[in-house]
Amino acid sequence: EFEAGAQRKPRGGCERPGPFLILLFKVRLDAELYYVRDDVVNFYALSFNMPVPTETNSLYFTWYSRSKVDYKLGFFVENPSVLKTPGSNISSQGEVPRVPSVFRVDIICSENVDEEAFVTMQLNLTNHPNFTLLNFKRRKMCFKSTNSVDGVATPTTSTQVFYISVSVCCIVIFLVAIILAILHLHSVKRVEMEDSVSDSGSSQGLSQPSTQTTQYLRADTPNNAASVTSYPSLRIEKNDLRSVTLMEAKAKVKDIAISRDRVTLRDVLQEGTFGRIFHGVLLDEKDPTKEKQVFVKTVKDHASEVQVTMMLTESCKLRGLHHRNLLPICHVCTEDGEKPMVLLPFMAWGNLKLFLRQCKLAEANNPQAISQQDLVYMAIQITCGMSYLARREVIHKDLAARNCVIDDNMQVKITDNALARDLFPMDYHCLGDNENRPVRWMALESLLNNDFSSASDVWAFGVTLWELMTLGQTPYVDIDPFEMSAYLKDGYRIAQPINCPDELFAVMACCWALDPEERPKFQQLVQCLTEFHAALGAYV
Ligand SMILES: *[C@@H]1O[C@H](CO)[C@@H](O)[C@H](O)[C@H]1NC(C)=O
Ligand SMILES: *[C@@H]1O[C@H](CO)[C@@H](O)[C@H](O)[C@H]1NC(C)=O
Ligand SMILES: *[C@@H]1O[C@H](CO)[C@@H](O)[C@H](O)[C@H]1NC(C)=O
Repeated sequence: EFEAGAQRKPRGGCERPGPFLILLFKVRLDAELYYVRDDVVNFYALSFNMPVPTETNSLYFTWYSRSKVDYKLGFFVENPSVLKTPGSNISSQGEVPRVPSVFRVDIICSENVDEEAFVTMQLNLTNHPNFTLLNFKRRKMCFKSTNSVDGVATPTTSTQVFYISVSVCCIVIFLVAIILAILHLHSVKRVEMEDSVSDSGSSQGLSQPSTQTTQYLRADTPNNAASVTSYPSLRIEKNDLRSVTLMEAKAKVKDIAISRDRVTLRDVLQEGTFGRIFHGVLLDEKDPTKEKQVFVKTVKDHASEVQVTMMLTESCKLRGLHHRNLLPICHVCTEDGEKPMVLLPFMAWGNLKLFLRQCKLAEANNPQAISQQDLVYMAIQITCGMSYLARREVIHKDLAARNCVIDDNMQVKITDNALARDLFPMDYHCLGDNENRPVRWMALESLLNNDFSSASDVWAFGVTLWELMTLGQTPYVDIDPFEMSAYLKDGYRIAQPINCPDELFAVMACCWALDPEERPKFQQLVQCLTEFHAALGAYV
C-alpha cells in the first residue's frame, strides 16, 4: 500500500493536516473518482475495469503530491490491432506535480476491426526506496470506420444533456409522487407509479423541456456517432418459428455440430416440464485430455418436435456475435435418434435470476451478501452487451434476469431465451393466442402492436434493472397479465424498490417512457450507470 511508502512530514504547530498524495479521475463535471486520497489507495476503484464510451477519446486525471514523488507511466493494450498506442500529454517519467494538475490520456480506436479493446495504464509512484504500482483498467468498444471522421468527441455535452433529462424525469416523478400521495389519501384504489409522460395537466408543463432535450441531443450528435444514437426503425416481426421444421433447424446449425461422444453430462442445474440444463464437460477435439466446462441445454424424451425446433432456433439468437457480455451458442449435438443438445460456455454462478434469489435468501443472515455497487456493476455489463446488440441492429426481444448468466468473478453475460418459457413458466403468459410472451417485461407498443425495437429492449432493461435491485422479485406481480397493457396505458408502472436510490429509479422510469423515442439509448445508459457506479465507489 502506498500508505506504507508515504513518508509523512512531521506535522507541528498549526500546520493543517492535509492530503499528501491525491490522484482522481474526473468522471464528469461534478463527479470524481478518487484512486488515491490522502495516500490511501482505493483498490476497489482500481479493480473496476471501467468502460469508456466509444465516442470518448480522452480521459482526464487530476493529481498532486505534497512531497517529492517520482512517477513512471506506461500503457499496455491487450489487443493492439484494435487500439492505437495510447498517448498522454505528460512525459513517461518525472515528478508528480506539487499543485493540482490535470493530465490527459488519449485512447483512440484504430478503426480496423469491430472489437472491444482492453487498456491498462500503469503508474509507478516512487518515494525512494519504496514504490507503489497502480494499474488503471479501461475497456472501450471499437468499430470499423466506414467514413473516417476525425473523432474529437464531445461526450460530456451529451452526458450532461442525458443527466438533465434524468433530472427532469426525477423532478416529474417527485411531483407525480406528491400528487399521488395526495390522491391516495382520497382514494382507496391502489396506486403504484405514474409515468412521467402521462398527460395530466400538472405534468404537461414539465414534459416540454424533456422533449426539447431530446431534440437537442439529436442535433448535438456528432456525425461519427450517428449510428450510436439512432435505432433501426420499428419493425414488426412475425413469429415464424412454426414454419421452420426440425430438419431445417438442424440444417442451420450443421456447421457447429459436434460428436455426442465429446460431451459428458454432470449434474442437472435447472429442470422444466420438458427442458433441462446440465453442467457438462466438453472434450477437446484434438487433445482429449483437455476439457472445457459447458452448459448443456436439452429436452426430455417426451418433448414435441415443435419444442425441440424452438429450442434450436431460439438458441441461435446471438450466434456469431462476439462481446464479453454476450453468451452465444458454441456447439450443438444433433445426431439422429438422440435428443438435440445445445452447448454454451459455462458460467460458474449460473442463471442470474436464480443467483439473485439466492442472494435474497442469504441476505437474511448476511446483509452484506451483495452490495448495491455490485448490482449496478451487473447492470452496466448488461447495458454494454445490449449496446453492442443495438449497434448490430439485433433486437433481443426477451431481455430479463432469467436470460442472463453470471460467473464467479461477477461477470454477467446476456444469453438467448431458449427453454426460458419452460424453466420460468411464471414469467410468460398467453394473451388469447398461442404465443407465450414475457408480458411483464414488454413495452406497450410490443404488447399492443407486436412492435419490437432496440427501444423496446430498453424498456425490458428497465425491468431487468428493477429485478436486480429487488434481488429477483417478479415485476407487476399483482397485475393480471391481460390487464397489463391497460395498466401501462393509464400511466402506472412498477413501484420504486425499497433501498433503491432515487437516481437509479429515475433511470428505470426513463426506460418506461410511453414514447419509444423518449427512452434513453443503451450507450447513454452505459455512461450514466458507470458514473453512478463511480460515485458509489467514491464513498467506499
Ligand atoms: C518505506 O517502507 C518502509 C516499510 O513500510 C518504511 O518503514 C519506510 O519509512 C518507507 N520509506 C520511505 C522513504 O517512505
Ligand atoms: C494536458 O492537457 C490538459 C487538457 O487538455 C491540460 O489541462 C493540462 O494542462 C495538460 N498538461 C500538460 C502537462 O500539458
Ligand atoms: C518502479 O520504480 C522503481 C524505482 O524506479 C523501480 O525500482 C521498480 O522496479 C519499478 N517497478 C516496476 C514494476 O516497474
